[in-house]
Order: sequence, then C-alpha cells, then structure tokens
Amino acid sequence: MSEQATELTADKNGHIFDLIAGEIKEGNGFIPFERFMELALYHPQLGYYTKNIKRVGKDADFITSVSVGKCYGLILAHHFAPILKNFSNFSGEVVVVELGAESGDLALDIMGGLSTLLSKNLFERLYYIIVEPFNLKREALRNRLNLEGIKNISVISELKKENNFHGVLIGNEVLDALPFRRVRLRGKNWIELGVGIKTEEKKMKLIEVERCIQNQSLISRVVNFPKDLPDGFTAEVNLNFKNLLSGIHSSFVKLKGFFVDYGCSHYELMDIGRSEGTVRAYSGHKYVKDILLSPGSNDITSNVDFDWFRASAEKLGFIAHEPIDQYRFLTNAAEPWLLQIEKSGINNVENMKLINQFKTLIHPTIMGRAFKVLNFQK
Ligand SMILES: C[S@@+](CC[C@H](N)C(=O)[O-])C[C@H]1O[C@@H](n2cnc3c(N)ncnc32)[C@H](O)[C@@H]1O
Repeated sequence: MSEQATELTADKNGHIFDLIAGEIKEGNGFIPFERFMELALYHPQLGYYTKNIKRVGKDADFITSVSVGKCYGLILAHHFAPILKNFSNFSGEVVVVELGAESGDLALDIMGGLSTLLSKNLFERLYYIIVEPFNLKREALRNRLNLEGIKNISVISELKKENNFHGVLIGNEVLDALPFRRVRLRGKNWIELGVGIKTEEKKMKLIEVERCIQNQSLISRVVNFPKDLPDGFTAEVNLNFKNLLSGIHSSFVKLKGFFVDYGCSHYELMDIGRSEGTVRAYSGHKYVKDILLSPGSNDITSNVDFDWFRASAEKLGFIAHEPIDQYRFLTNAAEPWLLQIEKSGINNVENMKLINQFKTLIHPTIMGRAFKVLNFQK
C-alpha cells in the first residue's frame, strides 16, 4: 500500500462513499474487499488511518499494548538491547525499525529505555526508523519527535534495498490492518466475496457480492482450503504479507523481527464456529454491526492467519517461529526490567503505575492471551 497505489483523489464533495461507488460501477458491480478496505482505511485524504484524528487510546476507538503505557516499550527495550549489542559487531547501521507507529509513543518509550541500557557509543550509533507510507502522517510524526527533541529517530516512506540494515523490526498490530480479501464456500467451490452497491428506498447502499475468483494468487491460496464446511462458510485471505515481507527482506542484512497481533492458526480459522470469518469493524471501543456502512469512519480488521504469514516469510528465506502468547513473551522479556523496578522501590508511585500496565499486558483475559508474538529472523 502506498500513496501512489491509490490513484483516486477525493471527489468534489469529499465523500469516500462516492469514490467507492464509482469504482464499483467501473468494476461492473464488484470490487474486491481488499480494495474497499484500501480506500476505507488508506485513501490519502479520507481514509480512516490517514485522517488527522485520534484512533488509539481510551478516549479513541481502540486500545493497543502501546497505548496501555510506557511499560510495553520499556520491556521491549530490555529485550532488544542484547540483540542490538550483538549486531553492533557488524559494520553498517544498527537500527530499530518500526512499522505502523501511529503517534510515535512506542518509538519514544523504546528509545527512552535503550538510552539507559546501551553504552553511549552504541546508542549514538543506533537509528530508530519509523516506516510510514503516508506523507501527512510522516509530517505529524516528525513534528512530534522534534518537539520531544529526539535526534536519532527518522521517519521514512518505505524500506529500500540499499538500506543494508542490521537490527530489530517491530510491528505492533500492523498485520491485522493490511487490506485482505474475503472468500466464501458455495457448494464445493470457494468464491470471492467483494463489495457491490444497491439502491434501497432511493438510497444507495454498499452490499456484499459474490463472484468467481479471478485473481491468480487467490486461486492458488484457496486451492487447498477445506471443502467439507457448511455452505456459506467465509474466511479472510491476506495477499499483502508477501509484499510487506519482501520489502523487509531486501532492506535487512541481519534481522530479528517481531510482529505482535491477534490471530490464530489456519486450522483454527477454518473452525466451524468461525463460519462468518473474523472480519470486524470498531469505533469508540464498540463493534460496528455493518462493516460496509461508514467507510473511512471506523477501523476494519480481522484475525491474522499466522500459518499463512509464516509460510509467506519462509518462502522468502526468513526463519519464522511459532507465535507465542504475549504473556509468555513479556514475562520472559520483563525479567531484567522487573529486577530493576524491585531495586528502585516497588511502592514508588511511578513504578506502581508501570506494574499495573504490566498486569494489563499479561493478564490472560485482557491482553495476555489474545495477542501473540511472531518472531522471525534473517
Ligand atoms: C492498529 S494500528 C496500530 C498502531 C500502533 N502500532 C499501536 O500498536 O498502537 C495499525 C497501523 O499500521 C499502519 N500500517 C498499515 N499498513 C502499513 C504498512 N504497510 N507500513 C507501515 N504502516 C502500516 C496503519 O497506518 C496504522 O497506523
């Protein structure tokens, strides 16, 4: 996804609905769900993720481990510090790359932690690089980072082959936000579920429409999907993992990568209990019933198929490990941080706040089990 990839500009009324309706007409009554999602979330002016609004946090649409507080970034800093020390033996830039940084909070938290954990020499050699495809968001991030007076953080539009990075990459809740396709079982055939339009009481409305799969990559993906599921069984397929991963592969010489997200195995996604798939929309911390109703006004997401992600990574030459629960990853990674907290006084108000955040991140019914950490390397 890039600004160039979305050719449309806002129509004269600035309504994303009209843009989508126009594309559906051009597409003879059908656009893939992936294209709908690309416009709804990432249209350069009108998309949910490109508009200048607050999306993440208690006072916005959803919370993430980053918005829980500093604790997450501090623990990650403890986990990344020894990895970065190892990479410092190589010539070239030592980096932490972040995808999907939104407000930049995680960058500040991780760099705050690393500034105390790395030698002065290595910290001065380290670059924190945020990859943000959208110009307006890049500007906002740069303004925020300038205000904080941090020098060794930069914001770039894309990863490039000539980067030659050695380091770490983190993407918190990025995979679930990549536009995906939807497929549905009809009889013994998987077909594609897209977006169409109909007029009801003189008003145009976006609706689900089905058609034969035409995209070659999608045909190859569903060829081995089970066919003994109930008629109408629906699932999501993300064809964008490959693109994201090849950018990462070509820009890193040596990498330890971490994607943190909600999701499950392919087998679990094909469970009869998930017959409508896992696609959902959020606004103001609530589910939005009709995901097609207000494009541009809410988040759209689905569970990540971790097996598919791992297979896509391994095909490119990465080693991709089995995802582990966030609580397991964080409790292991937090050990040195917890010892530090204990030494500096567990009853100190700031530390009590951090410990409460830690509990939220690892609690099995809050964030500890829902989120998985997928670790891959080159
Ligand atoms: C659910 S938000 C997560 C924000 C933040 N990481 C957090 O955890 O609070 C998803 C973010 O991923 C970004 N994103 C989606 N695709 C991306 C891509 N290809 N490269 C970089 N960022 C991307 C979106 O713009 C959005 O900021």
